[in-house]
Amino acid sequence: MNELSSTATFSSRSLKVGGTPLKRVYGDRCLGIYGKLEWFNPFGSVKDRAAYYMIRSAEARGDLKPGHTVVIEPTSGNTGIALAGIAGALGYEVEVVVPSQVSVETKAILKRMKVRVWEAEDDLCPRVGRGTDQAISLAQGLVKSYGGKYFMPNQYENQDNVKAHYETTGPEIWRQTGGRVTHFVAGVGTGGTIVGVGKFLKERNGEVKVYGVEPMPGHNLQGLRNLEESDTPKILEEGMDVIDDWIRVSDDEAFKHASELFSKKGIPAGPSSGAAYYGALTVAENLRKGVVVTVFPDSRHRHESTFNRWIKGELTRGK
Ligand SMILES: Cc1ncc(COP(=O)(O)O)c(C=O)c1O
Repeated sequence: MNELSSTATFSSRSLKVGGTPLKRVYGDRCLGIYGKLEWFNPFGSVKDRAAYYMIRSAEARGDLKPGHTVVIEPTSGNTGIALAGIAGALGYEVEVVVPSQVSVETKAILKRMKVRVWEAEDDLCPRVGRGTDQAISLAQGLVKSYGGKYFMPNQYENQDNVKAHYETTGPEIWRQTGGRVTHFVAGVGTGGTIVGVGKFLKERNGEVKVYGVEPMPGHNLQGLRNLEESDTPKILEEGMDVIDDWIRVSDDEAFKHASELFSKKGIPAGPSSGAAYYGALTVAENLRKGVVVTVFPDSRHRHESTFNRWIKGELTRGK
């Protein structure tokens, strides 16, 4: 199996990306929902997989040369943290462009990791297309102006993002369920997770159904994208045929389900994990038998301030 579970060595440190636990969060052996706990990655989110693949492949192609290049990326935060860890350990400086509304915890982690943080007025997953892609445009503008200095992986268009999930997350799910997975549900930001995992699982078993979870316009779910507000990222557009159907989730359902995972099951899931859990429950409602797998991209520790705003009723959009 071509899996990224080997120990990769970066400068003096050893990191193991992938190989995260798959935990049953609902049901029994007949009908169960299983969540992949992605905060077990070294830098705390699913994005460690994409960052590792994008950086390693750029080095192999000769696009990145240690010591010379600054890696810059538009991100809702997690890819920036992952790049800071992975590219940083390899000797690159990292700069990120984030939407100004990303959580204070995310910004604090980036700053602590010595990342230069640029802020843009943007959606919580940077918009693509139609001239409104502030974070992406700002990053592209910096690359244009200071050409030789920057390398921008661009997770929205980079097939290494999809490949990371096709070669690691998908095979892990297949192995961890003993090939019994019947449905895969994932929140969609760049589309890397859903396209890579969906493609792998469908190649193994054409009967597997794949569902995308989409937030409402104006949502507060960091990392997820509403496709009415924003154009479809290139890697999602190219892999759209793996998605059988979509489930819409409100902010309230997402925060409520994330809170339930924590208070009732001791699983510290972030808001987009709550959205994914809601999506998985919606799929399971219509089943009598099945193995429904979803991905919990990061933990609530990066979003405590947003949970508090939700509890106080301050998140008024995304209903
Ligand atoms: C918290 C969170 N959830 C979900 C996603 C979506 O994952 P993908 O970009 O693979 O679609 C992201 C992506 O940044 C994220 O940070």
